[in-house]
Amino acid sequence: MNSKQPIYPVEPWSVTETAFNMADNYRNETIFSLSNGYIGTRGTFEEGYEFNTDQGLEGNFINGFYESEPIRYGEWNFGFPEHSQTLLNLPNLKTTKVYLDGEWFDMRTGSIEDYRRTLNLREGIVTRSLTWTSPYGKHIRIETTRFVSFVMKNIMVQRIRIIPLDFKGEIGLLSMLDANVENHTRVTNPLIDYGPFGRTLNADKITAINDMLFYAGRTTNSGLKMACGCVHLLTSERTDKCYETEKFRCSVRYTAAGEVTMDKFIAYTSSLDIPDAEFNGYIRWILHEAKQQGFDVLAQKQRDYMTSFWENADVEIDGDDVIQQGIRFNLFHVMQSAGRDGRTGMGAKGLSGEGYEGHYFWDTEIYVLPVLIHTFPNLAKSLLDYRYSTLDAARARARVLGHAQGALYPWRTINGEECSTCVPLGTAQYHINADVAYAFTQYVKITGDTDYLKAKAAEVLCETARVWADVGSFSEARGGKYCICCVTGPDEYSAFVDNNFYTNLMARESLKSAVSALKWLEENDLNAFDALRRKINLQLSEPVLWQSIAGNMYLPRDEKKGVYLPDDGFFLRKPWDDRQIPPEKRHLLYENYHPLFIWRQRMAKQADTILAMFLHSGYFDCEEMSRNYDFYQEFTLHHSSLSTCVFGIAASAIGRTDEAYRYFNDSARMDMDDHHNNVYAGIHAANMAGTWQAIVFGFAGLRINSDPKSPLADGLELSPKLPGRWNGYRFRIFFKGMPLEVSVQKSGCSVRLLDGESLNVILYGEKRRLEKEEILCANIK
Ligand code: BGC
Repeated sequence: MNSKQPIYPVEPWSVTETAFNMADNYRNETIFSLSNGYIGTRGTFEEGYEFNTDQGLEGNFINGFYESEPIRYGEWNFGFPEHSQTLLNLPNLKTTKVYLDGEWFDMRTGSIEDYRRTLNLREGIVTRSLTWTSPYGKHIRIETTRFVSFVMKNIMVQRIRIIPLDFKGEIGLLSMLDANVENHTRVTNPLIDYGPFGRTLNADKITAINDMLFYAGRTTNSGLKMACGCVHLLTSERTDKCYETEKFRCSVRYTAAGEVTMDKFIAYTSSLDIPDAEFNGYIRWILHEAKQQGFDVLAQKQRDYMTSFWENADVEIDGDDVIQQGIRFNLFHVMQSAGRDGRTGMGAKGLSGEGYEGHYFWDTEIYVLPVLIHTFPNLAKSLLDYRYSTLDAARARARVLGHAQGALYPWRTINGEECSTCVPLGTAQYHINADVAYAFTQYVKITGDTDYLKAKAAEVLCETARVWADVGSFSEARGGKYCICCVTGPDEYSAFVDNNFYTNLMARESLKSAVSALKWLEENDLNAFDALRRKINLQLSEPVLWQSIAGNMYLPRDEKKGVYLPDDGFFLRKPWDDRQIPPEKRHLLYENYHPLFIWRQRMAKQADTILAMFLHSGYFDCEEMSRNYDFYQEFTLHHSSLSTCVFGIAASAIGRTDEAYRYFNDSARMDMDDHHNNVYAGIHAANMAGTWQAIVFGFAGLRINSDPKSPLADGLELSPKLPGRWNGYRFRIFFKGMPLEVSVQKSGCSVRLLDGESLNVILYGEKRRLEKEEILCANIK
């Protein structure tokens, strides 16, 4: 486990870089990246420094906008995905070069004083300020501000203020649109051998006219089209402006004197949203709207949005500022990265970089969605809407995999189609199907949104259940139990295993959820029940089969040790000896060892069985959880960022709060302190969300209480513990639309229903009905 010294000063509501250092640039581009779930932009500087692929990556993205290439396989098999999907790096409009009487402002030359770049987590705004003395002695103060608007999804805003301190000469501002951009595929995804290599976006139009820089272009292969543009507002008297257009660039150059402030409004859109014939008019219109509202109004709206986000999502920690900063940084990145238009998901790296090609994984459903369902249910719903919108693609994929019915969600995707090229570590991770179903189930349970159950969730549950009912069989070799062979569980250091515990348990629960959803529909809305049956041609014999599979699902177990096994072959594999691997190669097994060498050894990359046990903790008592936790501690290497937060939750559940804290500590500042030395490629969104889970599900012990036969929850359960280093913590969650505040202090804990009628709360095992404004108190146990 990692615990590094904080890289940035410890501040509860911000992250500050106090000195400019090119060597830290690549990492800081991710740390200071901004997004609104639609546009994502890396924290590169306005000056637009040229750097090589080891020093940085200018990155601007539209969620869901990808380029695709035919995948070249050395050996091809039926059903291999044929086309890649890569989040495409788009034209950059952030660059605004500043020159002072012919000298360019460049932080690599001259000297810098009072440098600060701050991500203000409370406001969702990045600012930078510094005093610069040019090589020829000109002295200026520069202040920049940037945000990606949460209220206008197409808009990013920048302000540059230049205050001459001791010179009266000409100040030039050169605002640029640079379309000569390409992905850094090689650097951020070294494991793949397909592109996009080089520039694959082709310009249809590039103009600098009437105060607007405009670009429209199309991808070479995926057929998607996009447009972007910017307009400016200068508050100093302009003396001059001139435009220039080249093949891949256009620019406008303003010349002013004295103090000058330039507000720059940037817009992106794509053919995923509007027809390309409307690009020019739309960009012009949306930029006009943004400019009309102006920087101050949009900045205030940004703050208001963030205020309401924090009101519901903040976790306050009393007595540990280091962790406080980590958790807020994590929550901010999680929230800003989530697709929110119902047709986009959330990348494992959000929109902060090109890592994992911008693909969406199970990270969203198992790590991110539980957080959003409790803190920002509408955002959670949008992410589920995205999965629903790709149900047809999942149906088609199921046919390719030989399932006559049902839907199989892809392991890696952007557009809904499978694009993972490595079968054992990709398509074989069938558990994604149960993960998606789990997220739909949790959403309905926790929000009580039965309209959603009728409209979308039940259909997803039934279609995914059909694949579970087809993928395995009742096997005589396992006493007639239902077995699922040749899958890969979450642990990616074993592959193509039989009866992966996580997969089988999640599949079992997924089948049960489908049955209970149908039963609820039949009892509560016969029209909806009939409509669904007709829509998916559901036979009444199907839920009967699902129930019987669920009742007979095989779960591998070592009776002597009293533990569940990750899969049938676990004890057949060679015992792992960490000492055989030089320390510098330990985190990079796939880069240094053949997959077969890895898969044959008895160890795990990440939480697998323990995760399944936590997600369905109602089935396992504390003793059983403890045994399994001890067993898996020994085998789990935590080489995935998705692992320690889960072990932290498990440790809390069995009362080992100190151990829980150690795991949690590793996860809480993983990206801020760059534990894995790879933040440059983008954030680890799943772990970031896992930190919240480690507090709320871990330390506070939140569980949803429900009858397994009902798709709706009955109440919630809490059994808060207080880590020794903290004086207290406090958070809010939504349950069935009702906000609740949980406060845990040394003097005791309290649960308060802030709004809504009443709800059932079980606090340390004692059940109570909590009325509005009522506070339930208890001593910490
Ligand atoms: C993990 C997967 C995860 C992916 C994206 C891999 O290293 O093993 O579980 O989905 O990263 O975060």
